[in-house]
Amino acid sequence: MMESSLPALEAILLVGGQGTRLRPLTLGTPKPLLPTAGVPFLAHQLARARSFGVRRIVFATSYKASMFEPVFGDGAAFGLSIEYMTEETPLGTGGAIRNAAEALTSAPSDPVLILNGDILSGHDIGLQVREHLSRDAAVTLHLTEVDDPSRFGCVPTDDEGRVTAFLEKTPHPVTNRINAGCYVFTRSVIDRIPRGEVVSVERETFPGLIESGELVLGYADRTYWLDVGTPAAFVRGSSDLVLGRLGSPALPGPPGEFLALDGASVSPEAKVHGGSAVGSGVVVEAGAVVSGSVLCDGSVVRSGATVADSVIGVGARVCSGAVVRDAVIGDGAVVGPGNELRAGIRLWPGVELPECAVRYSSDV
Ligand code: GTP
Repeated sequence: MMESSLPALEAILLVGGQGTRLRPLTLGTPKPLLPTAGVPFLAHQLARARSFGVRRIVFATSYKASMFEPVFGDGAAFGLSIEYMTEETPLGTGGAIRNAAEALTSAPSDPVLILNGDILSGHDIGLQVREHLSRDAAVTLHLTEVDDPSRFGCVPTDDEGRVTAFLEKTPHPVTNRINAGCYVFTRSVIDRIPRGEVVSVERETFPGLIESGELVLGYADRTYWLDVGTPAAFVRGSSDLVLGRLGSPALPGPPGEFLALDGASVSPEAKVHGGSAVGSGVVVEAGAVVSGSVLCDGSVVRSGATVADSVIGVGARVCSGAVVRDAVIGDGAVVGPGNELRAGIRLWPGVELPECAVRYSSDV
């Protein structure tokens, strides 16, 4: 029913950011392509968008732009038609939307869905679009309610859902509603964004529309929502998908304590749980404990090692007795036996830590 009520909806996916907060994972792979619950992150977003009637998506690429097409091609494997529009230099969120709009086929009064390429959301995109159409809004923003809005800019609305301001981060926010990174634009509003210029929708386009009295609508809800921009959020997003806390048509298997891709070797005497994703060619030896983590293709967790809430990069090794907790281990890096890495530490690709080189003390 949802699909038939939103015929031929087009979308723009913003995937050109550098993903600096996720370094070193994003040094070689753009954030939207990082393996998440067994598939590239974007596969989850594409499958959800499709389930709400989206059939054509324009990728707005910039950083490592050439890496997207070999993965998603023309979109046919995903039941979609995908186009790629690349910015020579990054144009910011608004400039990217304007640039990608050159490839849209929608008429000026049609709704166009815009998705940030790093959000996991359980909200009903169909309802958001219908709200936009029934109120004849210029833009309708998905707003999510968070427990601690002081870490974000907040977005107050009036009683009718009209957005009244875009407020910067403050210790005393006036609302716990924040911009959730999924917008419905009326096509003609996109065409008014200046072409070929760096523009931020959050700092320029939305405040400008509000100031000139146009209807910027908030669509607020409290369904599952996560911005996977930091390592801690990224591993949480992957494990939530594996555990089934957020349903995804792209999950390559049933939800459960862990997901292992073909060609992974997990010892029956290892404990792998908490929604861990085990990539192809990965080896987890007897006596190892892996919880809530992403083990990228070809990585190895030796006997007696512990990996928790962490990402182990492609081909990286965690040796016997090592502890890796709340950490990122870059591609090909080696955590030698007996090391203890914790609390947000990041090991750059190819670095090899000798035996017992790093310990952690809660006293310091
Ligand atoms: P950080 O560098 O860690 O802040 O991550 P990011 O580069 O992804 O930035 P941010 O999270 O603010 O971006 C939100 C969304 O917009 C992401 O999906 C980005 O890929 C995308 N994005 C940000 N800037 C640009 C840009 O200049 N061009 C394009 N095409 N996309 C962008």
